[in-house]
Amino acid sequence: MSHSPKSNPAGSYHGLSIPPQPYHQKPQSCRCCLLSTTYKTLIALCIFLGIAILVLWLIFRPHKIKAAVETATLTRFNLTGTNLTSLSYNLSADISLRNSYRRVGIYYDDLHGETYYNGERFGFMTLPTFYQGHKNTTMLHPVMEGTSVFGLESSGMDEFRNEEKMGFFNVDVWLIGQIRYKFGSVVSRRRRLRVRCNKLRVPLVTKETPGAAGFGRTECHVAHY
Ligand SMILES: *[C@@H]1O[C@H](CO)[C@@H](O)[C@H](O)[C@H]1NC(C)=O
Ligand SMILES: *[C@@H]1O[C@H](CO)[C@@H](O)[C@H](O)[C@H]1NC(C)=O
Ligand SMILES: *[C@@H]1O[C@H](CO)[C@@H](O)[C@H](O)[C@H]1NC(C)=O
Ligand SMILES: *[C@@H]1O[C@H](CO)[C@@H](O)[C@H](O)[C@H]1NC(C)=O
Repeated sequence: MSHSPKSNPAGSYHGLSIPPQPYHQKPQSCRCCLLSTTYKTLIALCIFLGIAILVLWLIFRPHKIKAAVETATLTRFNLTGTNLTSLSYNLSADISLRNSYRRVGIYYDDLHGETYYNGERFGFMTLPTFYQGHKNTTMLHPVMEGTSVFGLESSGMDEFRNEEKMGFFNVDVWLIGQIRYKFGSVVSRRRRLRVRCNKLRVPLVTKETPGAAGFGRTECHVAHY
């Protein structure tokens, strides 16, 4: 594990030679060749690292996980409490999560959903963990439902009333979790996954307004790192 050039003063590592200690004491004339050896070592290291990064990038190329909100509805979304400081909500969504890697499987660990309105979080839901094979799509069906303490400024309140009148609300849905890649029989360490589906136009569907407005499929921004 610890075979680095520094821990190997005797000289050779992958065919690159490091001059023995006494050269340090030699006068001017050889400082030049010592420098050039250092440069060669550095350049070789850079090339080696470059190739390693390129190979890793080709296997785990970014943006290979795609997500979209296929549909989303609110069956309840209103402010309650004497001073309207609580939000009562019921949001359900169908989110597709696609692994478009050709050879890499993905373990989704600790996946949960969060919902935001006006930049404030109101909902949270733990989602089941699962394994997803390559070139496969999984549908998730989070339902976030409850009442949460919520403070809207007067401008936010105006926006809320306006959206209420139009029959839809601007909601953000995020999926946060940790993933592991499976490549052959090798499983990577855990990495973060963050799926942000922002500015969804989610219709409020009630008895009074049954399906007044539809939902347009919305692609999400996915980051895994
Ligand atoms: C909340 O909204 C639902 C459906 O939109 C409605 O039936 C209910 O009366 C509302 N509740 C309050 C306290 O406004
Ligand atoms: C509502 O607001 C009034 C004045 O702003 C305050 O006196 C009262 O305690 C509040 N009630 C609740 C339930 O927060
Ligand atoms: C929330 O909405 C879903 C359908 O969208 C429904 O099945 C569920 O019963 C609702 N939950 C509550 C507490 O109203
Ligand atoms: C996708 O995954 C499901 C469930 O794990 C499986 O039944 C299905 O065969 C897979 N599809 C492909 C194309 O691998």
